Amino acid sequence: MSLLNRVKSLPQGFIWGGATAAYQVEGSTKVAGKGKTMWDDYLKAQGRFSPDPASDFYNRYPEDLALSKKYGLNSIRVSIAWTRIFPNGTEQEPNQEGVAYYHRLFKECLDQGIEPYVSLHHFDSPQTLFEDGDWLNRKNSDYFVAYAEFCFKEFTEVKNWFTINELISLAYSQYIQGNFPPNHHFDVTSGIQAQHNELVAHARVVNLYKKLGLPGRIGLIHVIQPIYPIDDAPENIHAAKLQDAFMNKFLLDGTFLGYYSDDTMESINEILRLNDAHLEIEDGDLDILAEAAPQNDFFGMNYYQNQFIKAYKGESTNSFNGTGDKGTSSFKFKGVGEAVKKEGVPTTDWDWNIYPEGLYDSLKRVAADYPNCKTIYITENGLGLKEDQPAENEILADDKRIDYIDQHIEAILRARDEGVDVQGYFVWSLQDQFSWANGYNKRYGLFFIDFATQKRYIKKSALWFKELADTMK
Ligand code: NOJ
Repeated sequence: MSLLNRVKSLPQGFIWGGATAAYQVEGSTKVAGKGKTMWDDYLKAQGRFSPDPASDFYNRYPEDLALSKKYGLNSIRVSIAWTRIFPNGTEQEPNQEGVAYYHRLFKECLDQGIEPYVSLHHFDSPQTLFEDGDWLNRKNSDYFVAYAEFCFKEFTEVKNWFTINELISLAYSQYIQGNFPPNHHFDVTSGIQAQHNELVAHARVVNLYKKLGLPGRIGLIHVIQPIYPIDDAPENIHAAKLQDAFMNKFLLDGTFLGYYSDDTMESINEILRLNDAHLEIEDGDLDILAEAAPQNDFFGMNYYQNQFIKAYKGESTNSFNGTGDKGTSSFKFKGVGEAVKKEGVPTTDWDWNIYPEGLYDSLKRVAADYPNCKTIYITENGLGLKEDQPAENEILADDKRIDYIDQHIEAILRARDEGVDVQGYFVWSLQDQFSWANGYNKRYGLFFIDFATQKRYIKKSALWFKELADTMK
């Protein structure tokens, strides 16, 4: 049966949304009292691309929300820029211009009938806190909790909150792969410690939210990258198990079990040993995780790709040149191995596997292994392409993106048929926006942006989405 007929089985009220992140879309990084994030000076020093104007969402949000509405979306994922509210991350008093901006944004969402799903942290720590150790410094978590409390009490119009976006991507990119500031390579101690500290910060915020008795819902967002051994060789199976623990299971356990299972810790400890690294769990951390685990109202799952893993016995090496995230095969991580390509599995322009089966497997796995994980939203899924501007009156024919989304929605429907409670799908991304490692030439949007003029153009995928959403009416 065609996808269009299949989506009719979805409940009314199923969420179709477009995803964005403050730093990637807003631009206007120096206006209205905003403080610097960890990216401002870093991007300037690199000189590759500027975070301004981005997609000029700071000014053009009414237009983008109108496009969302017109093309069938009923929700949007946005994040609050911490540094618009507390420019250094540490102030007692908020920056009123930043507060007013987000009230305007949320009001416009609600006026246009678009439900906002709001993250508190999307890769954009304040520069001051970043210099002080970012998530590695536990004092910074106190500032995060204070910022969260302020937002909960101030933005009462928001009913759906996510604490932190993609903890693993942040930790991995900062400390293992080294393509996010502060560019550490294979600093495994920091890579695991940051994940743990962020999990505890998330749990503290969930516990606080519940104590405040607020009427909304709260969760967090993990990207799941299912890991498969490239074949049945025992060393490849073992390397894949370690890699899965580091990329997925450590965070899933901490979030939804409220502790790290023995099985997970066995793998994590092996990685730590091999890399002369260590993890510190402070007294009380596990109580905080345990209190939060059953209180998450939902889980935001981002999914892009899987990995096929081959064991590797040498030293960790990374030939990554800092200008893109292409070529995972040049990256070898001691103990964990290397990601290799599998015949028959197509890849994107950036060499990411296209493997919808991995989304189905991940949904089934989370539902089976983590009963505390109730409702799931796919909070990001989409295809990054190099795309040229369409000519005037022409529609950009992004059939590859349509194909990608179609296959992944099909995987979701299959998991739903088998009892997994998926309640929504947010496409990454709503409109074109820059990519952290690739700048403006990696485009994910349903709407093309000419970044010089900020004019929006419809892509064929937006029309396809409208048809999909209309089918359910
Ligand atoms: C995940 C992140 O949340 C988002 O910021 C990023 O641009 C996309 N993945 C695409 O890589």
